[in-house]
Amino acid sequence: MINFKELANEYKTPLYIYDFDYMTSQYNKLKEAFKGRKSLLAYAVKSNSNLSVVKHFADLGSGADCVSIGEVRRAFLAGIPSYKIIFSGVGKSDDEIQEAILKDILYINVESEAELKRVALIAKELDKVCRISIRVNPNIDPKTHPYISTGLHDNKFGVDLNSAKRMYIFANNSEHLDPVGIHFHIGSQLTKLEPIREAAEIVADLVRSLSTINIELKFFDVGGGLGVEYDKEVTIEPYDYAQAILGTLTSLDLTVICEPGRFLTANAGYFLTKVLYEKQNAEKKFVVVDGAMNDLLRPALYNAYHKIEAITKSTSEERLVDIVGPVCESGDFFAKNYSLPELEHNDLLVIHSAGAYGFGMGSNYNTRARSAEVAVEKGASRLIRKRETFEDLIALELEFLQS
Ligand code: LLP
Repeated sequence: MINFKELANEYKTPLYIYDFDYMTSQYNKLKEAFKGRKSLLAYAVKSNSNLSVVKHFADLGSGADCVSIGEVRRAFLAGIPSYKIIFSGVGKSDDEIQEAILKDILYINVESEAELKRVALIAKELDKVCRISIRVNPNIDPKTHPYISTGLHDNKFGVDLNSAKRMYIFANNSEHLDPVGIHFHIGSQLTKLEPIREAAEIVADLVRSLSTINIELKFFDVGGGLGVEYDKEVTIEPYDYAQAILGTLTSLDLTVICEPGRFLTANAGYFLTKVLYEKQNAEKKFVVVDGAMNDLLRPALYNAYHKIEAITKSTSEERLVDIVGPVCESGDFFAKNYSLPELEHNDLLVIHSAGAYGFGMGSNYNTRARSAEVAVEKGASRLIRKRETFEDLIALELEFLQS
């Protein structure tokens, strides 16, 4: 049990807290589901890119799925070996491609024909051979929030099957490209198995058809997306997930790669915030807290639900309140019409499921310094990111201030 009160006293609020033991058990559960098959879990760094978090997964044997060269650098710093690092994303710059090639990562996941040609050219200039995979868009509706659905033809991600085939042929004929993998990722927070199975089947068929023209791939990368319980969702069991994927790979000798983010981190994380005031406007009761949308954007951006627990001595009856932060936006809320008892100044609210896409999507909007981050492991806590200061926020501007 995490003692939130103690952590609030020691590290102040607002504060991100991550349960590293929970991350370990989620990692092991998923790894275990692929037991007996060649598999690699490549942690999706974007879900929580704190170096200590990435190192935690590195120590468990994880690889890294990165979406910018910054994330690739984090993965290296955290000790993930180059041969377990994947670099995806629809818009990689020349510099990013160059650095990825020089760092000799497992592969660059290519998302368009234009990008493939760019990678070939840069590899040629460097006199290197670049391992690549191609992100296929299987045109499957993953039945999740539209902002985090990525596998439909009207999404910007990946290429259709015909283009993919052309690209593999191009890569296979290029002296500077080595096509080793195939990739798809149909969306995030997936709670239905069928779309994943369907997508895997389509992509596995493409692997078979490539094999008939002597293009033999090694890696079958199914992306991330495993959903978690925020509220009362019925989620996919890791074992069923693995079986559904492996079931599509009969007669294929491939290493399965998956890129879990949220599954590993979401429910390991808590965002701790302190009550400043209660206020009543006409019919509406507000609880104003010291954390805000700049700390945890998901409710504002996706209307996402996060369970909220009050730590208070209050014994009053519960009533419906909006929990809001100090930022000057009506979208700055953590929950609307949420049932909580009367709260006092300095009572604590624990916002659950905040370990994925929490801190990382934060900003300094309204010149608010970002919170500290703390790890809890084997009963002890430790700081893994200092709270930002006002001086940190202005550091890159100050020298330009003209008198
Ligand atoms: N692999 C690729 C290529 C991805 O695009 C993503 C997530 C993942 C793996 C990891 O997905 P996960 O296992 O975490 O579902 N900000 C949104 C989620 C955006 C997901 C973007 N891509 C949210 O807060 O719900």
